[in-house]
Amino acid sequence: MIMERVLTLVLLCVLSAWANIPDVEKVSVIGRTETELTFQWKVENSSYSYKLATNVIGDIPINASEAEYLNYTVSPLSPGTNYSFTLYTVFENYTSKGFYFSNVTTPSNVNSVSVIDRKENQITLQWSKVNNSNDYGYELYWNEENSSIPISQTNTVEYNVTSLDAGTEYFFTLYTVFGHVMSSGYSFTNVTMPSNVQDVNVKLNDTEMILQWDVVSNTNNNTYTYTLENKDELTVNCTNQTAEGNEVTCHISDLTPATNYSFTLYTEFADLRSTGFKFNNITTLSDITEVTVNRSQTELTISWNKLNNNDIYNYTLKSQGEGSEKNFTGSAVGDVITHTYSSLTPGTEHSFTLFTVVNKAFSRGFSFKNVTTLYCTSFNWTVTNSSIEAKVNGSTYVKAQNSTGSVKNGTVNQNSLTLQGLYPGGSYNVSLFYYLESELLPQCTHHLTLDPYSVSHLRCEYHSGGYGLAVIWDTPYGVVDRVQVDVDRKSFNKSYSSEKQIRLEINGLQAAKKYTVTATSFSGSRRSQTVSVNCETDPAGVIAGVLVFFLLVIIICVAVFAWRRYGSAKRNKMTNPLVEPKVPNKNYKPLPLNKFPEHYQNMSRDENRGFSEEYEDLSSVGIEQSSIAALLPENKDKNRFSNVLAYDSSRVHLTTKDEGDSDYINANYMPGYGNASRQYIAAQGPLPSTVNDFWRMVWEKGSQAIVMLTNCIESGRVKCEQYWPLDYTPCLYGNLLVTVKSEDKLPNWTLREFNVKNKDTSETRTVKHFHFTAWPDHGVPAGTEELIQFRGLIRQHIESSFSAGLTIVHCSAGVGRTGTLIALDVLLQQLHKEKAVGIAAFVQEMRLSRPLMVQTESQYVFLHQCIMDSLQPKAGPKSEPLYENSDMIYVNAIALKEYDNQSQI
Ligand SMILES: *[C@@H]1O[C@H](CO)[C@@H](O)[C@H](O)[C@H]1NC(C)=O
Ligand SMILES: *[C@@H]1O[C@H](CO)[C@@H](O)[C@H](O)[C@H]1NC(C)=O
Ligand SMILES: *[C@@H]1O[C@H](CO)[C@@H](O)[C@H](O)[C@H]1NC(C)=O
Ligand SMILES: *[C@@H]1O[C@H](CO)[C@@H](O)[C@H](O)[C@H]1NC(C)=O
Ligand SMILES: *[C@@H]1O[C@H](CO)[C@@H](O)[C@H](O)[C@H]1NC(C)=O
Ligand SMILES: *[C@@H]1O[C@H](CO)[C@@H](O)[C@H](O)[C@H]1NC(C)=O
Ligand SMILES: *[C@@H]1O[C@H](CO)[C@@H](O)[C@H](O)[C@H]1NC(C)=O
Ligand SMILES: *[C@@H]1O[C@H](CO)[C@@H](O)[C@H](O)[C@H]1NC(C)=O
Repeated sequence: MIMERVLTLVLLCVLSAWANIPDVEKVSVIGRTETELTFQWKVENSSYSYKLATNVIGDIPINASEAEYLNYTVSPLSPGTNYSFTLYTVFENYTSKGFYFSNVTTPSNVNSVSVIDRKENQITLQWSKVNNSNDYGYELYWNEENSSIPISQTNTVEYNVTSLDAGTEYFFTLYTVFGHVMSSGYSFTNVTMPSNVQDVNVKLNDTEMILQWDVVSNTNNNTYTYTLENKDELTVNCTNQTAEGNEVTCHISDLTPATNYSFTLYTEFADLRSTGFKFNNITTLSDITEVTVNRSQTELTISWNKLNNNDIYNYTLKSQGEGSEKNFTGSAVGDVITHTYSSLTPGTEHSFTLFTVVNKAFSRGFSFKNVTTLYCTSFNWTVTNSSIEAKVNGSTYVKAQNSTGSVKNGTVNQNSLTLQGLYPGGSYNVSLFYYLESELLPQCTHHLTLDPYSVSHLRCEYHSGGYGLAVIWDTPYGVVDRVQVDVDRKSFNKSYSSEKQIRLEINGLQAAKKYTVTATSFSGSRRSQTVSVNCETDPAGVIAGVLVFFLLVIIICVAVFAWRRYGSAKRNKMTNPLVEPKVPNKNYKPLPLNKFPEHYQNMSRDENRGFSEEYEDLSSVGIEQSSIAALLPENKDKNRFSNVLAYDSSRVHLTTKDEGDSDYINANYMPGYGNASRQYIAAQGPLPSTVNDFWRMVWEKGSQAIVMLTNCIESGRVKCEQYWPLDYTPCLYGNLLVTVKSEDKLPNWTLREFNVKNKDTSETRTVKHFHFTAWPDHGVPAGTEELIQFRGLIRQHIESSFSAGLTIVHCSAGVGRTGTLIALDVLLQQLHKEKAVGIAAFVQEMRLSRPLMVQTESQYVFLHQCIMDSLQPKAGPKSEPLYENSDMIYVNAIALKEYDNQSQI
């Protein structure tokens, strides 16, 4: 062992003597900090020691080591500095040549990094150079990226980190680089600026706004907050900000109306907010939409509730008409604001506009109109028994309602109103209205009572043995509270009764005296026209007294007279007017033909005195009958004359299809010869409004002959509507198409033939038109001959038709000429068949079916004349009969002969 050591020493001595000690082959840096460098090298021989020579610390002896590798740490060193070393291997007094190497310490990190600017996708960083040295480089790492920072010439480094995402937090590390060595790294985080919201949706009214926006989206799903700022530094917290889904809602209240609000909405993330989304909105200014107007004749009081029940608003009320303007301060008045315009004119329209006002800003304004009411009593009301008329102002519509609830209404045209078809004697509340902006404003109400109808058929009957009268009348249509009857300067009242016929018995009169009896109906204070009738109390009592006194004398006289002039007395009995009492519905008997000429002469005596008396007797026949249908409001206008109405009992009923149809026509069934109670229809000449009804009657009654006894126009007055076509062009009347097939004009009459076609059933009928043109109204034809011939034509037609239906006869009123012709036709039949005529009897019969049949005494006489002339055919070609009446002539001749014989007695 010692030997070996010796040998080694020897060898080393030899080697060192010869050659040098070997250097280490390689030095590795196995540790590096800012202040230390740790080296390692391989130990070739454990007897070697080392010497490290440095330029900063001087030589450092390093002891020998047994280990294979030797580690050595040099410190303290300066960071980021390049150091040079020489490592010598040392053995005994020998030293190797030296192994040279250099290496660097770790550089220092930057002291700090300032974030000097942050944008949505860029962050600007700034830091001071390490050791103020240009020897170092810098590298920045963030997220998955890194970048080398270019060397700058200044003491500070500024760097823009670009292409970043907005509103995102970034983690940065900045390294100082020296050689290839990087510092430990300076780490920091910061954020990019978030984006603004894209848009803000605003809903607003006077004092509130609701803002809505979508959340700002970002890749990291960061949650941002939002701050809304107002121009006036008023930060609206949006504490009641709610996010629902991707939507954020902010509710702002307590705003001022009509104000422009400028807002900026910031997106906030960490300590940073976005540039701000700017928008502005103006709060609205609402209008009052409801105003109450209290109206009177001279005042309009306008009131309204404060808008939204707050004091924010002021108000301005303008009246257009007067141009006046009234201001109200919201905070100075109560909840309801009221203003009265007074001293206005009744019935005038006024226009107003109500504005709300905030900070001198006016709302668009609520416009409304109203009208002052009226004094109904200030108008002149004219009342009749069926109408109310007045000249009024300040109203456009009128309504009348009676106690039964029946309502009539109408418009007011040019300040005049007319209500017709009212209930006679009815009490009406008449209300005026003003139509304003689709509203009917009540103007005033007036109570009016209509005049009642006069009583009808006022007449008397004997009563109380001649010391009284029974006054009888028919209850008129309509309301009648009472009827006042005046007789002999005394008044009697009869209050309302539902009976159709009223009888009032009046006592204490004188017998056999003429009294004028008047009757006036009353409804409330309204009175009808007074009707009067002359009545005579029963003379029987007086006559009885006188008779008792002179009875014997009379009996003797009569006995003597009868004994002497037996035959003559017997003949005169029939025509002595004194013998028969003046009561209606006498029982007239037909007169045999051989008695007729004598009768005719008796009647003609003393200027037709007999005719006058007989005709007068007929005047009251039938008049007590009712004509209710004729007087119904809907039918009243269908009558040509108010005194010629169709009796209910015998009137012609038209068939009705619709609810509203009326069955009324001014026409009555007329009896004919024999037992035929309905052989003719006596009708008035159609009015323009009843032409269709007339044809309806023609069709429904199956008439094949119309006898017309008037001209359409006589002495310049319309007597009858021309109810058939003017020419051969067909005319439609209702559903009946009438065509003139032929027309034959003769001197005294015109004959026509009509085709009547029912459009509903297409059935066609032929109707003959016998139009007598030579008969003046109320008068008689020049001679009897023409009318007798005309009647013959009609009779011939009736008898030649198989089922002729009823023959319609009309003139103008349908009573005078109509009655005369029907009577003539019937009487000539009677004359022919019975050899007797009952003129009075038949006129009486006709008058039970229609009033005034044979309307004048002259017509009555003319009728007799016709009969006379029929008995006594005139000679000459003129009397050539137009129809076969040869046996009539024969009959007439016999009658005449008989008459002549008698007059010779
Ligand atoms: C420092 O040492 C390391 C590791 O041994 C080596 O890679 C590097 O090249 C050396 N640096 C210099 C400047 O010689
Ligand atoms: C030298 O350093 C290496 C690596 O750092 C280590 O493994 C070894 O044990 C060290 N040697 C000594 C003698 O300390
Ligand atoms: C080495 O140096 C020391 C002193 O410097 C000396 O005493 C010694 O003799 C030397 N050894 C050799 C072998 O030269
Ligand atoms: C980001 O930079 C700003 C400005 O330098 C700074 O005030 C802020 O504290 C930094 N933020 C963070 C998270 O370090
Ligand atoms: C960074 O960007 C800003 C513009 O955003 C520019 O003005 C500035 O010069 C840039 N700085 C550097 C160091 O490039
Ligand atoms: C404004 O609108 C809000 C929400 O629709 C409502 O609650 C509020 O009453 C309104 N305000 C006014 C003054 O109309
Ligand atoms: C963000 O959220 C969406 C859906 O909620 C998800 O698909 C996505 O991965 C999220 N992104 C991040 C960075 O978390
Ligand atoms: C916003 O709300 C926060 C907390 O709720 C409060 O501290 C702050 O004072 C409010 N800001 C404004 C301007 O109201």
